[in-house]
Amino acid sequence: MLSKDLERIEDLQVRKSVPLLPLTSFRIGGPAYLFLVPRTLKALEQTISYLSNRSISYKVLGQGSNLLINDKGMKIVMTLAALNRIHFHGKSKFEHEGRWQVPSNASLQHGTAHGHPFKTVSVEAGCRLKSLLSWSIRNGLCGLENLSGIPASIGGAIAMNAGTNKCSMAEAIDAVQFTGPDGSCWFRRDQLQFDYRSFRLPDKALISAARIQFGKSSPDQIRRNVRKVMCKRRTTQPIGKPSAGCVFRNPPGDSAGKLIDQCGLKGLRIGDAEVSKKHANFIVNHGKASAVQVMDLLEIIRERVKKETDVELVPEVSIWGMET
Ligand code: FAD
Ligand code: EPU
Repeated sequence: MLSKDLERIEDLQVRKSVPLLPLTSFRIGGPAYLFLVPRTLKALEQTISYLSNRSISYKVLGQGSNLLINDKGMKIVMTLAALNRIHFHGKSKFEHEGRWQVPSNASLQHGTAHGHPFKTVSVEAGCRLKSLLSWSIRNGLCGLENLSGIPASIGGAIAMNAGTNKCSMAEAIDAVQFTGPDGSCWFRRDQLQFDYRSFRLPDKALISAARIQFGKSSPDQIRRNVRKVMCKRRTTQPIGKPSAGCVFRNPPGDSAGKLIDQCGLKGLRIGDAEVSKKHANFIVNHGKASAVQVMDLLEIIRERVKKETDVELVPEVSIWGMET
């Protein structure tokens, strides 16, 4: 009944029993009973409206880089991967879809970021951060270099306010479009609430697009900066091994990785889940780690760090379908 109804929505692909494991960077998790792929904003709006009106809950999958999914799987998962267009501001039709929370004003279109002239670019939430970065380099647009190496969709990067010790997604944002049961609506930067690795979403809404602000630079200079950032990442983090990045948030003024390391937990292993020997805030999956094994490891780490340093670590990884 549910899938039959959803199949009637034009431009919505409805797939059944889709394995989620290959769609996550951790390579962990059971299948999605229903996997929804809206191909247009209208299909997304109709899908959310249908599900919300019936109080049917669902999860939104970005690039799957910050997820620990239950081994048994999930009921309904939606991906915005097909909504991935990028456009210079003013050239696209899609940013005129939806409406503004308050009327758009001129300063949104042309302005000054950190004293440099900038351009705004509209991007749909399913676009990968890496694709936007490559596109911006080709167009001589700078500003996202410090975020290079963060595997994310634009929606996931905003939802998590992804970042480094130097900067976060929030600083690049000009406006965000939300889509919920009542349709789509743009909000300006000053109407949004970003925090360390968090972002306040309106009730029952998801991020469907964003406007990003860029400075101007030469492609060669931007490439050099990206190389520097990637070089540091490769020397300090276990890039290339399945993981979900840092599993705990940093406590104020401290580093969770340093604390876990000081407790001597590097290399601690349950099944194929191991506290990385390279960076203690990463758990790596050596092959067949289960979500339960990772949860057990998270609990041991939390207890040990609490006992030895009196710091309560809080997970950064989004945990789907399991109690924390
Ligand atoms: P997902 O993992 O798919 O989802 C994460 C959360 O966002 C979920 O709750 C999901 O429901 C929600 N979400 C996704 N899309 C939307 C949407 N359109 N609307 C509303 N909610 C949505 N993170 C950092 O901050 N800094 C780093 O330096 C960093 N390095 C990493 C390195 C590695 C090797 C890995 C594997 C991960 C790293 N991460 C890092 C974690 C991860 O890349 C970020 O959290 C990223 O923002 C997740 O984006 P995603 O699209 O993969 O989201
Ligand atoms: N450290 C150790 N042992 C370790 C890991 C780190 O002693 O095993 C020490 C380092 O030597 C350094 C300090 O801890 O003195 C901080 O380490 P690092 O520079 O690696 O930064 P981090 O605080 O551990 C944060 C983000 C990363 C982001 C990096 C780079 C969090 C939880 N982590 O890590 O983000 O890539 O800065 O800026 O905020 C993520 O969020 O998933 C993530 C990977």
